[in-house]
Amino acid sequence: MKEVNIESKLIVFDSFDELPKSIASLMEKAKEARLKAYAPYSKFLVGAAILLDNGEIITGSNQENASYPSGLCAERTAIYYTGAQFPNAKIVSMAITAGSQTHETSTPIPPCGACRQSIAEYEFKQESPIEIYFMGTSGKVVKSHSLANLLPLGFDRSFL
Ligand code: THU
Repeated sequence: MKEVNIESKLIVFDSFDELPKSIASLMEKAKEARLKAYAPYSKFLVGAAILLDNGEIITGSNQENASYPSGLCAERTAIYYTGAQFPNAKIVSMAITAGSQTHETSTPIPPCGACRQSIAEYEFKQESPIEIYFMGTSGKVVKSHSLANLLPLGFDRSFL
């Protein structure tokens, strides 16, 4: 037997102001989307913005439901809309911002496992990496050069 080490490299920006211009404006779109979240139960608002290789930007926010599991995360709202509207475009980057309405959220909030799996599907499909940037409502911004980097040992279509 042997021990296997799995590594993930992340880049940490000390603040929003350190982001490259194009990513800062994508994150601005995610912030606008966050303010449109429908989250009366958790009071936790999430916004996501996706940049496509054709220059389009698609946004999404979390949409909750009185039947809790019927709600959907911001990232999946955005990525499934993208898949439905732009099936042939490649996704270049996704920016995510999240924050509670009841307390300050200054730590970077990564996408949940289900969202990582959903984004991974499109990364596999398009055969090129999707950059992921995530933050709270303020503070540091984390960048992953690909979704796979956030989901080691992921399950994909190659196993089917
Ligand atoms: N949420 C997202 O929108 N994205 C995530 O990656 C994690 C969680 C939402 C779902 C729910 O509306 C609220 O945040 C609290 O879990």
